[in-house]
Amino acid sequence: MKNILITGGAGFIGSHVVRLFVNKYPDYNIVNVDKLTYAGNLENLRDIENKPNYTFIKADICDYDEMRRIIEEHQISGIIHLAAESHVDRSILDPFTFARTNVMGTLALLQAAKVYWEALPEGYDGKLFYHISTDEVYGALELTDPDGIESPFTTTASSYDHHLAFGSEFFLESTKYNPHSPYSASKASSDHFVRAYHDTYGMPTIVTNCSNNYGPYQFPEKLIPLFINNIRNRKPLPVYGKGENVRDWLFVEDHARAIDLIFHHGKVADTYNIGGFNEWKNIDLIRVIIRTVDRLLGNPEGYSDGLITFVTDRKGHDMRYAIDSRKLQRELGWEPSLQFEEGIEKTVRWYLDNPEWTDRITSGDYLTYYENMYGSR
Ligand code: NAD
Ligand code: DAU
Repeated sequence: MKNILITGGAGFIGSHVVRLFVNKYPDYNIVNVDKLTYAGNLENLRDIENKPNYTFIKADICDYDEMRRIIEEHQISGIIHLAAESHVDRSILDPFTFARTNVMGTLALLQAAKVYWEALPEGYDGKLFYHISTDEVYGALELTDPDGIESPFTTTASSYDHHLAFGSEFFLESTKYNPHSPYSASKASSDHFVRAYHDTYGMPTIVTNCSNNYGPYQFPEKLIPLFINNIRNRKPLPVYGKGENVRDWLFVEDHARAIDLIFHHGKVADTYNIGGFNEWKNIDLIRVIIRTVDRLLGNPEGYSDGLITFVTDRKGHDMRYAIDSRKLQRELGWEPSLQFEEGIEKTVRWYLDNPEWTDRITSGDYLTYYENMYGSR
């Protein structure tokens, strides 16, 4: 497959996927389609923006005619679909935007690909629509003993035993969908549409469901970059509820590697879970972040502990997500490459070494980058 469309490539995960594909496959043409919502930041892609095998197009995935035009003009044979509204808190305030982009946008893209591919002499041969989804579609798991468990800092990335400490249940590929937030409901709906296009029209599709990503270039509304930035600026750290909720964290480059592997070797019509086997209670993770930032800034131990501020819980806050990604390990040999200690150290260092990246977001200056590069936004 030579001409690949990546949607949402100016966002957090998308930018890592675009970078990986542009650098690793010089003979592929990578077309990045992104609407540049508040979450899209072309500064994430500065290092590859002038590569000959890379094209950026500012467009809305909900615009069916535009999607058809782009897919046809660039003779797209593979689509990696990441564009979405991605922040749970925003979905609680503005569910319509989530339904529009995540559901209708995915549908517009599917239909545009269908019409183009079905009209080709070879039809769906050598084509793939790869949809990136989330573990949140499965709902929430119980915590066995919320008070008794402390996340050890020395977690091996694939430690199944550590995983078991939080509860005996995991999300499997066969787990029934049970989304709770408007965000996860919209992602679940888009997953269903993707599978429906396979089952109804025979479109080659793959869906993957991944756990919480962390790493460089994550928009500072999400827990880890928000808290690093607030510690740096001596601002309160708003911990929702009692900080007992559990998330499974995966370094973003490991997710991008999994996407590469599955795009090339995954089984059509299949689903793969992607996770870190790396569960953390929020409050324990927050203490690790504080300790790491303080150490790297040369602050005395405990210097920023007082910034922790318990605030009203998120509405409908899912208690625990835990992905079982052993199918991907078994069938395609993927494993997280980084221990969590390394990943979190690398991440904190990156945000502290690149403060202007976050500062240009908080000031709004990043919004002018597209105009400067390509003309009016
Ligand atoms: P993000 O919010 O950082 O980036 C989303 C990108 O999509 C942005 O560049 C934005 O401009 C673009 N976009 C939004 N609406 C668009 C539209 N209508 N048309 C074109 N582009 C549009 O998101 P992320 O965290 O990088 O997540 C990427 C994908 O991965 C999403 O589908 C998300 O559901 C999924 N996912 C995220 C995580 C995570 O931890 N962040 C985990 C699992 C799955
Ligand atoms: O599980 C995968 C999902 O992970 C992705 O599909 C989503 O796109 C992504 O945003 C993420 O969702 P979460 O809601 O888990 O991520 P967030 O960073 O918003 O929050 C992580 C946890 O931290 C969650 O339990 C809520 C809590 N939290 C978050 C923020 C922003 C706080 O306690 N305080 C905060 O200020």
